[in-house]
Amino acid sequence: MSQWFEAARLGEIPDRKSKVIVLNGADVAVFNLGGEYYAIEDICTHDGGDISGGWVEGDRAVCPRHLAEFSIRTGAALKAPAYEGVHSFPVRVRGEVVEVCDDRG
Ligand code: FES
Repeated sequence: MSQWFEAARLGEIPDRKSKVIVLNGADVAVFNLGGEYYAIEDICTHDGGDISGGWVEGDRAVCPRHLAEFSIRTGAALKAPAYEGVHSFPVRVRGEVVEVCDDRG
């Protein structure tokens, strides 16, 4: 069953940065893109790098290890050497709290 978790307070994650949380054992990077929040799994599908350890270009997160790129909005792999996307989690803002839903079943 899907479950919502508190991920951050509004203003806690700077613009174009992320915060890593653990959702039921999975590392999840919560990104702030100009005041809109997105959450993707934080494990690069190329070789397990921490996507959050890289940087943001537009709406893409760049893995620092071999420069694969993922869509922050959808988790899709957009640049080699990653060819498989990462899971994208639903996000909502309630009051001052950013919440992420673990919808992996
Ligand atoms: S581990 Fe991410 S690009 Fe290789």
